[in-house]
Amino acid sequence: MGLTLDDPHKPRDSLTVTDNRTGKTVDIPISRNSVPATAFKKLSLAKAREGQDRPEDEVESGLRVFDAGYQNTAVVQSAITFIDGEAGVLRHRGYPIEQLADKSTFLETAYLLLYGELPTSAQYKLFSREVMHHTFVHRDMADIVASFRFDSHPMAILTASFAALGAYSPEGNPALAGQKIYTAPTDAALRLLDKQIFRLIGKSITLAAMAYRMRQGRQFVAPPAGMGYAESFLYMMDHLNEGSEYRPHPTIAKALDTLFLLHADHEMNASCAAVLQVGSTLVDPYSAVSAGCAALYGPSHGGANEAVIRMLVDIGSPDNVPAFIERVKRKEAVLSGFGHRVYVATDPRSKIIQKIAEDVFALTGKDPLLDTALALRDAALKDSYFISRRLYPNVDFFSGLIYRVLGFPTDFFPVLFAVPRVVGWLAHWRQMMLAGTAAVKIWRPRQVYVGEGERNYVGMKERGEEGAQQGKKKKERGSEPSKVHHPTSTRVFLARESKL
Ligand SMILES: CC(C)(COP(=O)(O)OP(=O)(O)OC[C@H]1O[C@@H](n2cnc3c(N)ncnc32)[C@H](O)[C@@H]1OP(=O)(O)O)[C@@H](O)C(=O)NCCC(=O)NCCS
Repeated sequence: MGLTLDDPHKPRDSLTVTDNRTGKTVDIPISRNSVPATAFKKLSLAKAREGQDRPEDEVESGLRVFDAGYQNTAVVQSAITFIDGEAGVLRHRGYPIEQLADKSTFLETAYLLLYGELPTSAQYKLFSREVMHHTFVHRDMADIVASFRFDSHPMAILTASFAALGAYSPEGNPALAGQKIYTAPTDAALRLLDKQIFRLIGKSITLAAMAYRMRQGRQFVAPPAGMGYAESFLYMMDHLNEGSEYRPHPTIAKALDTLFLLHADHEMNASCAAVLQVGSTLVDPYSAVSAGCAALYGPSHGGANEAVIRMLVDIGSPDNVPAFIERVKRKEAVLSGFGHRVYVATDPRSKIIQKIAEDVFALTGKDPLLDTALALRDAALKDSYFISRRLYPNVDFFSGLIYRVLGFPTDFFPVLFAVPRVVGWLAHWRQMMLAGTAAVKIWRPRQVYVGEGERNYVGMKERGEEGAQQGKKKKERGSEPSKVHHPTSTRVFLARESKL
């Protein structure tokens, strides 16, 4: 038998680091091409050096690893998803995304992500029955969703709804039911954990459909019986009064199911990290998923599919593409749907999405923005600005065009990303909880403090017009509250102006 990675006889790889401040050398083990950041704590100074270190540098407590925006920091060991950003490879539990998109379904891939293997037919039946059974929500959710303003962004509704759901599962709330309800090594812990997972995956399509219908001013629709996941979602969004025989178009249901599959997980992205960050405090999974939703809402992440369409509408036509590209190069605009922290050559999902787009466009006709999108993509791929920075179309570049021809409102696009991503968040959360109580470390990063050293309080009278700094420092941008504009009614304004 060959050497395994954990073989104790394997020659140990290590990194030798010398601290040139002290001459001290430490030997840091390299495991799976990573080094433990805590090893650097061994490099410390006995005390701050005159004129070189500030007390706030805390040199006595060891060297810190500074990594703004987690550009090269691994925060978990995970067995779920692998990405090779150079080669454009994405695999879930070892299976290439291309094979899953071609042969699997969203719920089967969800099972794979959560439990590690493709399910047998009995396992799949049980899992899909549990998920679909949990699509029903407490009737109070109807009041909660209906209480939002008619023009609320659906991500605001979804984020709040996930958090609200937690209030309806007190037995799944560690604050009420005990801190170790998920991390204890018991069958009861596992059952409770999986039940919340079924609930969250099942209810996410219902809540998303409710967010959509509230804004249409339509009654909410109860989950249908006997339909698949994406199909049920479309049913709850679109069912009018055709009667119970209404079924979403099979090509559309299949396309959405594959889009859901493509969005199900993407290893340690910003929203997954948010879910784990929040989950590491041992809060309930509803709050953690709500945090993930909030992170995904941003235009640098899941909000990019919405931003792409707004960008294409602004560009207006292929003729305006060169001018837009110049604006991007002058850093006046962002080319949404391009670039990725991990993929530097190609995003394998974007290729699959282009194929789905062809199938959908064959049914619906092309989106009028497609020509502008293709002209933009082609211009960017030829331009040295994008080539030198290794910026390529990502999953969001084309997905929005599909959602648009299917008639989803533009601000609903991030919801179509968040709903399937609930699975990925929960797969990572489950993996974290299964590691056990001792292994779930609270995610508490450090900072490098660059602010003022200790100083004494100055009374308001002594501060004078210039403030406590007494002119020592020129005023920096953002160093005092902004003078904000208070829109007011014309009547109030006129009354004030006339000094009545
Ligand atoms: C995804 C994203 C946030 C990754 O950010 P990142 O890894 O921090 O990359 P950086 O911001 O350091 O980018 C490196 C360089 O490329 C530029 N760049 C990156 N993405 C760009 C984009 N979409 N448009 C224009 N310039 C871009 C940056 O301005 C930077 O240029 P510089 O070296 O001259 O400063 C970023 O590419 C982006 O904002 N893309 C658009 C939003 C999007 O589609 N998000 C969905 C991701 S799936």
